[in-house]
Amino acid sequence: MNKRIGVRILDTKKGKFQHIAIDGPAGAGKSTVARKVAEKLGICYLDTGAMYRVVAYKVLAAGISLLDEEKVTSIAKNTKIRFGYSEENSVYCDDKDVTDQIRSPEVSRAVSVVASYQGVRESMVTLQRQEATKGSLVMDGRDIGTYVLPEADVKIYLTALAEERAKRRYLEHIEAGKESNLEQVLLDIETRDRLDSEREHAPLRPAENAIILDTTGLSIEEVTRKIVKIVREA
Ligand code: DC
Repeated sequence: MNKRIGVRILDTKKGKFQHIAIDGPAGAGKSTVARKVAEKLGICYLDTGAMYRVVAYKVLAAGISLLDEEKVTSIAKNTKIRFGYSEENSVYCDDKDVTDQIRSPEVSRAVSVVASYQGVRESMVTLQRQEATKGSLVMDGRDIGTYVLPEADVKIYLTALAEERAKRRYLEHIEAGKESNLEQVLLDIETRDRLDSEREHAPLRPAENAIILDTTGLSIEEVTRKIVKIVREA
């Protein structure tokens, strides 16, 4: 698996790679902010949510029941997940470009169930930790600070009111020319928050030493600036 945005650098001050964990609920702006922070710092970015989405996409495409934990886990173990070289948003599932498909409402509804299975998480976390051993990076998800990279140099927990997060997702859909319904998006976000926070394995919650940033009313640029400042001062 590869995601080459920016270059790998050693933090010469500390003589080791720099790892930045950004966690938080759906629609808090993690991916956009994490990507921009990585660009500004000149290091790589890994979107772990996209990895779970690829598994959910493949499960749906294969017509496998989401409730069949054994089959879903086997899919997770046997899928090649790759991120694009130059087109920074592209994601590949077994060499097929699934960039758009993994953002569909069907995948968004299925992914929390897939991500709740321990075997699926083990496969994804192994890949995520492998990437972290290769260099400095910004990783975003739900359990990065608490579980995947407990020794991360900086841990950020991004949050915002559910209504604001739903509005952001709704506007993203509209801007992408997709049909959307604000009430439905809010309902989906609340359902996903509940599933992600209440699941048994690595549930969504801030790490003890995470810096909590409420992004309600803040622009992407403002949040990015705040995080870059925190990282530079760390
Ligand atoms: O960030 P996102 O909406 O693309 O995440 C998709 C789903 O994957 C979400 O329901 C939570 C799950 N996820 C997870 O459990 N652990 C992660 N590190 C990242 C995402």
